[in-house]
Amino acid sequence: MCGIVGIIGVEPVAGRLVDALKRLEYRGYDSAGVATLESGDISRRRAEGKLANLSGRLASEPLSGRIGIGHTRWATHGAPTEQNAHPHATTRVAVVHNGIIENFRDLLTDLAGDGYTPNTQTDTESVALWVTRELDNGADPELAVSRTLKHLRGAFALAFLFKGEEQLLIAARRGAPLAVGHGETEMYLGSDAMALAPFTSRLTYLEDGDWAVLTAEGVTIRDAHDAVVSREPRISQASALLVDKGNHRHFMAKEIYEQPETISHTLSHYLDMASESIALREALPFDFDDLTRLTISACGTAYYAGCIGKYWFERYARLPVDIDVASEFRYREPPLEKNGLSLFISQSGETADTLAALRYCAGQGQHIASLINTLESTIARESQVVFPILCGPEIGVASTKAFTAQLVSLASIAIAAGRARGALTPEAERKLVQALIGLPRAVSQALQAEEQIIEIARHLSRAQDVLYLGRGPMFPVAMEGALKLKEISYIHAEGYAAGELKHGPIALIDEDMPVIVVAPSDELVEKTLSNMQEVAARGGRIILITDEEGVKTVGHNVAETILMPRVDSFVAPIVATIPVQLLAYHTAVAMGTDVDQPRNLAKSVTVE
Ligand code: F6R
Repeated sequence: MCGIVGIIGVEPVAGRLVDALKRLEYRGYDSAGVATLESGDISRRRAEGKLANLSGRLASEPLSGRIGIGHTRWATHGAPTEQNAHPHATTRVAVVHNGIIENFRDLLTDLAGDGYTPNTQTDTESVALWVTRELDNGADPELAVSRTLKHLRGAFALAFLFKGEEQLLIAARRGAPLAVGHGETEMYLGSDAMALAPFTSRLTYLEDGDWAVLTAEGVTIRDAHDAVVSREPRISQASALLVDKGNHRHFMAKEIYEQPETISHTLSHYLDMASESIALREALPFDFDDLTRLTISACGTAYYAGCIGKYWFERYARLPVDIDVASEFRYREPPLEKNGLSLFISQSGETADTLAALRYCAGQGQHIASLINTLESTIARESQVVFPILCGPEIGVASTKAFTAQLVSLASIAIAAGRARGALTPEAERKLVQALIGLPRAVSQALQAEEQIIEIARHLSRAQDVLYLGRGPMFPVAMEGALKLKEISYIHAEGYAAGELKHGPIALIDEDMPVIVVAPSDELVEKTLSNMQEVAARGGRIILITDEEGVKTVGHNVAETILMPRVDSFVAPIVATIPVQLLAYHTAVAMGTDVDQPRNLAKSVTVE
C-alpha cells in the first residue's frame, strides 16, 4: 500500500507534493520521492526512509516545476532503497504506482527484446519502460498509456508525468483507490481525500478500470474500454474528519471495496515477490518444526478466520490445530501440550475473552503469538510475537477488510510453517504464493458482481431466515456470511457444513427459505452441489456462489448463480468472502438499517 499525489499547478509544486505525502504516510514510509518538470525535463528527488529525508533532499536540491507527481512507498518488489524509490522514470515519462503489476517479469522480457532494460528491482519500472517504448514508436502520451494499460495484470493505481507536457498528468485505477481533485486554477491527484484536503474538497473518485487525463482546464475520464464516461464530483468531508467514506455511502462499503488494496498491503508484508516465497519478518521465539500443536482462539469473525486457517495449517504445514471461540476456551481448562503454539486473532487486540484465553495459555507455558490490526493493543503487548494484518483502521462495526487481511496473513504463515516443517517443496510453495499474488486482481473481479447482488439482496431482505452452506474451508465462509447478514440486516441466518444438512437442518427447507451455497470449484465441489440438490428437491430457493467450472457441474435448480473468478482452491475462501459481504451489505441497505453501527453491537468488545 503506497500513497500517490499529483499536481498541475500555477506555482511550484514540490513543497505541496511533500505536504500531501505527509497525509499519506500511513500508507507506507520505506521511501518517498517527487518528480517535476524543470524547463520541460523530468527531474526527480528521492530518498530512502521517512518523508523528512525527502524534505531534507529538496532543501539542498530544490525543484521549481509547476507540475509534478509524488509517492510514499511501502516496499513490495525490491528493497526500500533510494534506487527503488518512486517516481520511476525514463527521459520521457515518470511514473508513481500503488499496488502490484503481476506480470512485470513478462513485460520486462518483452521490453528487453527491444533494448529497454530496467535499472531497479521494482515491478513499476516495467510500466515506465512500456510507456516509453510506445512514445518512442510515435504514440502520444494518451495513446501510450491506453496501450500500456491493456498489457498490465494486477491491481494498481498509477500516475504519469511526461517530458515537455507542462499541463498534463495521466492517472489510472484498477483495484487501488485514486481521486481527482478540482481546484480553482489547479488540478490534483491523490490516493485519498485526506491527501488532497489542504488543496480542495471537490473530488471525483475514479471507478475501477477508469483512467483519467488531467489538464489545467479539467479532467477527461475513460473507462476500461476507453469510452469517455462522466463521474460526478463530490464534496469531501476529509478535512473535518479523521477518516473519510470516499464516494461510498457507508464505511462498510468503503472497506469492502478497499480489499484489493488492503490485501496487497498485507501481502507485501509477508511475501518476497521477487523470489515468489514467504519471508516472515517477525523474529520467532519458536521453531515451526518443533511445534507439537497450534491452538487458535478468537471471537466472531476473527474466529471464522481461524477456522479457515485450521484447514491451511493442517493441510499445508501438517501441523495439528485446535480451535475454539475464546469465551469457551478460557473456561475449559484445556490441557496444552509442551512446545505448543497458541495463536490469538483479534482486529482490535482488546477483546476481553481473547485476552483471557491468551493469559491462560501464557500461564500454561505455551508460545504466544497474535494476529492483530491494532498493534498498540493489549493483546499485542502481551504476545511474544505479533503478526500484523495491516489493513488500516476498520470503522464499520461489521468486520470485512480485517477478515480478509487475517486470512491472507494466516495463509502466509501457514506456508512458512509448511516450508519449515518440510511439508511443502519449493515448487509447491511457489504455486501457493503465486495464488496469493493473484488475489488483489481476483478480489477486484469478484467485486464486479455487485449489480447482480443488489438485485438478489432485494429478495433476501424479505426473508425471515437464511441458510448458508459450505464444505471444507467454505464452511467457515458460510458461517461468516451468516454472521454478517445477522449483524447488519437483523435477519436470522445460520451457516452450516453442507454435509450436515441432512442431519437436521434440512427440515427447515421450504420455498420461503433462501439457501446460499458457497461452492467454488475445488475437490469438494461435487459433494456440495449434491447437497444443494437435496435443497432444490424440497423447493428451497438456491443462490449459488461458484465459478465457471462450478457452473458446468450444476443442474438447473438454481435461482441465482453469482460467478466468481476461477482461482486456486487455496485462496478460494478469500475470494468467496466478497459476495457474502456484499450480500449482507446490500440486504441491510435495502432494509434501511444502520449499516455502520448496527443495533446492540460495539467495535471492540472489552467485556466478557
Ligand atoms: C463481526 C465482528 C465481530 C468481531 C469480534 C472479535 O463482524 O466484527 O464478530 O470479529 O468481536 O473482535 P476482534 O477481532 O477485535 O477481537
